[in-house]
Amino acid sequence: MSDVTFPMARRRPLDPPDEATELRQQGAMHRMTYPDGHRGWLVTRYSAARAILAHPHFSNRQELSHPPLPSQLERVRMQRERKMPAGVFLRMDPPDHTRYRKLLTGQFTVRRMKALESRIEEIVNAHLDGMAAAGGPVDLVQMFALPIPSLVICELLGVPYEDRAQFQENSKLLLSLETKAEEAIAALGRVMAYLYGLIQRKRKEPSDDLLGGLIEGGELNDEELTGVSFLLLVAGHETTANMLGLGTYALLTNPDQLAAMRDDPSVVDNGVEELLRYLTIIHVGPIRTALEDVEIEGNLIKAGETVTLQLPAVNRDPSRFPDGDRLDVTRQAGGHLTFGHGIHQCLGQQLARAEMRIAYPALLRRFPGLRLAVTPEEVPMRSDMGIYGVHRLPVTW
Ligand code: HEM
Repeated sequence: MSDVTFPMARRRPLDPPDEATELRQQGAMHRMTYPDGHRGWLVTRYSAARAILAHPHFSNRQELSHPPLPSQLERVRMQRERKMPAGVFLRMDPPDHTRYRKLLTGQFTVRRMKALESRIEEIVNAHLDGMAAAGGPVDLVQMFALPIPSLVICELLGVPYEDRAQFQENSKLLLSLETKAEEAIAALGRVMAYLYGLIQRKRKEPSDDLLGGLIEGGELNDEELTGVSFLLLVAGHETTANMLGLGTYALLTNPDQLAAMRDDPSVVDNGVEELLRYLTIIHVGPIRTALEDVEIEGNLIKAGETVTLQLPAVNRDPSRFPDGDRLDVTRQAGGHLTFGHGIHQCLGQQLARAEMRIAYPALLRRFPGLRLAVTPEEVPMRSDMGIYGVHRLPVTW
């Protein structure tokens, strides 16, 4: 059997690599050699991907896994040396994961999400005003896609207004590709120190936000609360920002789909789901490592072997999504795996959906003449990053 290596190049910016599509046509799972020499697996079909995410014998602990991208090797080695900070429950297995997940789910209440929706509207409108005042062309990533999710996380955590500019600046440095390694580590230190200080302030002055709620619950210490806040910041910021940037690019290059999202409010919910499926910004992973031998669709995955989901190919599997390579904002795209599946399924998905349901139509209606200020080929894609998207999106109107 021929062996697969990663990463795979995309021929068209919005489609999975042709190689991944061909592999899906051949089968559900493929042997893959990881950059550290490990022989693991790549998953390209929907049913196998879903079965793995739901299976209790697969672990999400980073120290057990082999990174699929060469660029991740160094970062993972450094993280292993430093140990994962307390509270980053995405990389924990039960029962540790269960404890945090329960505490956090209790904080994502319907009441809190409703209150956030009206703040999201205000934040979105303020940024549209900013764009109008600046006048086109502008970079939509800098003026819209990045700051909105960042401010929404500030609302969720209860970061005071006077601290936000500095907090956003440090988060931006931490998450940007252009930041040098030492600068990123320094920014990480500042973000962690800030969050730790914020938690101590909130212990003295109770607040009605998520952190206030967790503090009142009394179950987590300051280190754990810092780690949880950090996870929410990282998990909620870059993901949603890339959906807003890449989603707008996808709509601008598919004008009939754009018109439907702009003109028909009844399309928006399905349209957001379809963009999540079609774009699948988590394009490397999720990743799991088998704790025991497991058989998935006739393949024996041995204990210790790492499996990487090729989610863009999975979410276009024609056995689950007929004509899956077509963007159709009226399609019922529910059941896609862009938010994962099983015990780690995205905790912030309702918040992310709310941000997109508000932001896309507001942008398209405020600027009915919105268009790219460069050719589609000139837009730089984040092919080299764990989360796919556009580095910049020059637009005018
Ligand atoms: C479009 C935006 C988003 C996408 C595509 C996304 C995607 C994902 C995926 C795929 C996972 C599971 C990873 C795995 O199984 O290994 C996940 C987990 C998680 N996400 Fe999101 N996410 C988004 C937005 C958010 C937001 C806005 C927040 C928080 C405010 C958030 C918080 C989390 C947390 C805390 C986890 C870990 C859950 C656990 O381990 O139990 N995400 N997300």
